[in-house]
Amino acid sequence: MSDIAVRATGASRTFGSRKKTEVHALTDVDLEVAAGEFVSLIGPSGCGKSTLMRLIADLDQPTAGSIEVFGKPAKQARLDQDYGIAFQQAGLLPWRTVLENIALPLELHGVASAARKARATELAGLVGLAEFAHRYPDELSGGMQQRVAIARALATKPKLLLMDEPFGALDEMTRERMQTELIRITVETGAAVVFVTHSIPEAVYLSDRVVVMSPRPGRITDVLEIPFGDDRPELLRESPEFFRHVTAVREALHGTPTQRANER
Ligand SMILES: Nc1ncnc2c1ncn2[C@@H]1O[C@H](COP(=O)(O)OP(=O)(O)O)[C@@H](O)[C@H]1O
Ligand SMILES: [Mg+2]
Repeated sequence: MSDIAVRATGASRTFGSRKKTEVHALTDVDLEVAAGEFVSLIGPSGCGKSTLMRLIADLDQPTAGSIEVFGKPAKQARLDQDYGIAFQQAGLLPWRTVLENIALPLELHGVASAARKARATELAGLVGLAEFAHRYPDELSGGMQQRVAIARALATKPKLLLMDEPFGALDEMTRERMQTELIRITVETGAAVVFVTHSIPEAVYLSDRVVVMSPRPGRITDVLEIPFGDDRPELLRESPEFFRHVTAVREALHGTPTQRANER
């Protein structure tokens, strides 16, 4: 398997066929995500984060450039189910219980029934839903539904996770717990992650690199290294080092005070 999880080369996506009304959602994006690397995409609404995620997942195709996943065309990686997806909308099947939803990718992978049930039960526990294993999605809060979707994305221990604002609907406590769990899981499984978030501290806490994007046209404007490696204890969130990186990302996002003054 290629040791590059994702490679976008000159990837662009333009919507609309008429020149006057077309939207350049994404322009000339070059991005490599190494196997096992955690990369966050951050930027204002409409800068093309979800568009890029959809291209990587082959839910949409670039109008120029190319996307490879583990050295294969994105389409082949989708057919081979090389990655797990957790997007903003939980996208659960309403007629299936929590366990049955989590087990869905295992079914598609041909895992036997008993093993499916064991793994789904383990994952339900991991996301704090052990007591809700036999409930249906419409009996759960939005945050709980989202946790089911995350468990489902993890079910086959994929080497790549594509997560588009997966924790957006969670309360702060649950969100921090899920962040800690996600780090534990990715360190354990060696999975690469491409993660969209609006939260600067979340991006810093989770990532090896933070990719900053800007709109009109959607493009990458900055890439920041976060050097904490696999060792990210809860207390890291309170350290001066952590705040230094939060500030760096904030300045990359908003422009530094001097930059802004010059623009006025
Ligand atoms: N299917 C679509 N048709 C037309 N325009 C779209 C479509 N999807 C996204 N866009 C436009 O592309 C831009 C980027 O959208 P998106 O990737 O969803 O941004 P983000 O996820 O960063 O908020 C926006 O201007 C959005 O309106
Ligand atoms: Mg989006």
